[in-house]
Amino acid sequence: PSFQSKLKNGLSKLGLPKEIVEFIVNVIGGSGDLKIPEARGSIAAIRDEPFFIPLYELYLTYGGIFRLTFGPKSFLIVSDPSIAKHILKDNPKSYSKGILAEILDFVMGKGLIPADGEIWRVRRRAIVPALHQKFVAAMFSLFGDATDRLCKKLDAAASDGEDVEMESLFSRLTLDIIGKAVFNYDFDSLSVDTGIVEAVYTVLREAEDRSVAPIPFWEIPIWKDISPKLKKVNTALKLVNETLDNLIAICKKIVDEEELQFHEEYMNERDPSILHFLLASGDDVSSKQLRDDLMTMLIAGHETSAAVLTWTFYLLSQEPSVMAKLRNEVDSVLGDRFPTVEDMKKLKYTTRVINESLRLYPQPPVLIRRSLGDDILGKYPIKKGEDIFISVWNLHRSPHHWEEADKFNPERWPLDGPNPNETNQNFSYLPFGGGPRKCIGDMFATFETVVAVAMLVRRFDFQLAISAPPVKMTTGATIHTTEGLKMTVTRRQRAPVIPNLEVSNMNVDSSLNIQEADQKDEVSSAIS
Ligand code: HEM
Repeated sequence: PSFQSKLKNGLSKLGLPKEIVEFIVNVIGGSGDLKIPEARGSIAAIRDEPFFIPLYELYLTYGGIFRLTFGPKSFLIVSDPSIAKHILKDNPKSYSKGILAEILDFVMGKGLIPADGEIWRVRRRAIVPALHQKFVAAMFSLFGDATDRLCKKLDAAASDGEDVEMESLFSRLTLDIIGKAVFNYDFDSLSVDTGIVEAVYTVLREAEDRSVAPIPFWEIPIWKDISPKLKKVNTALKLVNETLDNLIAICKKIVDEEELQFHEEYMNERDPSILHFLLASGDDVSSKQLRDDLMTMLIAGHETSAAVLTWTFYLLSQEPSVMAKLRNEVDSVLGDRFPTVEDMKKLKYTTRVINESLRLYPQPPVLIRRSLGDDILGKYPIKKGEDIFISVWNLHRSPHHWEEADKFNPERWPLDGPNPNETNQNFSYLPFGGGPRKCIGDMFATFETVVAVAMLVRRFDFQLAISAPPVKMTTGATIHTTEGLKMTVTRRQRAPVIPNLEVSNMNVDSSLNIQEADQKDEVSSAIS
C-alpha cells in the first residue's frame, strides 16, 4: 500500500469524518489517491481538424494533465511544464517511446528515435560526437548551395509569372540537405524526380499515415499481403534500404583506404557526412543498426525543417512588419553574400523569427512516451504502461505562460537575451524536446532554417497567391498544410543594401568559403 493509503487507514481508525481524512491526506500525502481528471467522451469533435486542436480545448477545460479514453484505450495528455520536465528530464529512465516505437518500427527499426534502454544509450553516445562544431560549420556551404538552387527555381517562376507551392519545395530543399549531411547522397530532388526521391516520399507518407491511423491496418493478416498500397510501400522501402546499404558499403571502402587519424573533430573534407564520421570512428555496429540510424536521421531532419520553413513563410506573409524588420537585418548583415557560421551570431532577429515559428508550430506537435513503472505525475500516481502524449502545442500556446499566445511576435524574446530553449523557459517552450532524448540536430536545423530564410527573403517578395486555398493544418508526424502553401513570388524590387566593400566584391552565386585557418575559433565563438 502507498503512503497515502496507509495514512488514510490510520486516520480513519481514529474515527475522523471521511471529508477531514481526505483533506489531511491531500495536504500531507500529496493526494495519492486522487484521480486524474477524465475527458471521457469529449473527443467527438475530432474529425476535420488535426487531433491536437481538440486536445487544446480539453486542456483549457481539464488542465495540465487529463485522461482521454477511447473504448478500451486511454491516454494521458500532459500540457503542464513541470510534468513535462519530470518525464523528459528528471525521470526519463522510467519512460519509453511506446506507441511511437511500434509505429515506426517498419522504417526506423532500432534507430535513435524509437530505440530505448541500452541500445539507445550506446547509439546516442556514438552518434552525437559526429555533429561536432567543425561539421556544423562545414554544412553552411551545403545550406547555401541548396538554397541557391531553390532561388534559381523561384527566379524562373517569377519570370514566368507562375505561382509556386512552397511546402513541397521546402520539403525538397531539406531532403537535398539532409541526404548530403547524413550520408553524402545527392538526392537533387529540387532538380529531378528520381525513383529514389519518390521512394523516400512513399515511405515518409506511410510513416505519417500510420502515426494518425485509428487502427494498425498494416498488421491485419490478409490485408497485409494484398493491399496495393502496402506493396508499394514495401517496394519503396526495399529501394531506400538498398540505397543506404550501398552507401554504407561504398563509404566503408573509402574509409578503409583512407589514411586517417581519427580525433574528436575528425572530418573528411570531401565527405563531411555523419556516416563517414561514424565509420571512421570505428563505430562497432551492425550494418542494420547503422542503416536504422541513418534512416532515422533522414526522416527526423527532413520533414521537421521543411515544416518550420513552410510555417515561417506563412507567418511572415501574415505579418509584413516582421518581414520588414527581418529584411533590414538580413540586408545589413549579409548584403547578398552567402551566410557563414559567424553570421549566425549577428542574424539575431532572423533566429527569433525561427524561434517564434517553432513556438506556434512545434514539429512534432506532441511527444509520445509510455511509463515503464509506477510514477507520480504532478499530484497523481500513475501505473506502469500508461501511454502519454506531451502536447508541445498546448505548452507553446498556453494562455497561462504566454502573452497573446497566438500572436506571431518574435519580439517576445529580446535580441540581447539568450536564445530561448527548454531550460531557460522552464519547459514552457521545448521546440527540440528536452533531457537526454533532446534532438541531436537542434543547432544544425536552426542554422539551416536561418540560412534558408535569410537567402530567400533578401531576393524575393512572398505573398499568398490570390488563388491560394485557405491555409489549414493537418498532421502526420509534423504539421502540414491541407492543400499546400501557394505563393506568388516576385523578385524583390529594392536593391539590397551592401554592408561593406569587402563582402560586396564576393560573387553572389559562388559557393561559400569558410576560411579554413580560422574556422574552428569562429565556429566556437559563434556557437557559444
Ligand atoms: C529528436 C525536433 C531536426 C535528429 C527530436 C525531438 C524533437 C525534435 C522535438 C525530441 C523527440 C522526443 O523527445 O520524443 C526537431 C525539429 C527539427 C529537428 C523541430 C528541425 C527544425 C533534426 C535534424 C536531425 C534530427 C536535422 C538530424 C541530424 C533527431 C534525432 C532525435 C531527435 C536522432 C532522437 C534523439 C534521441 O532520442 O536520442 N527532434 N528536430 N532532428 N532529432 Fe530532431
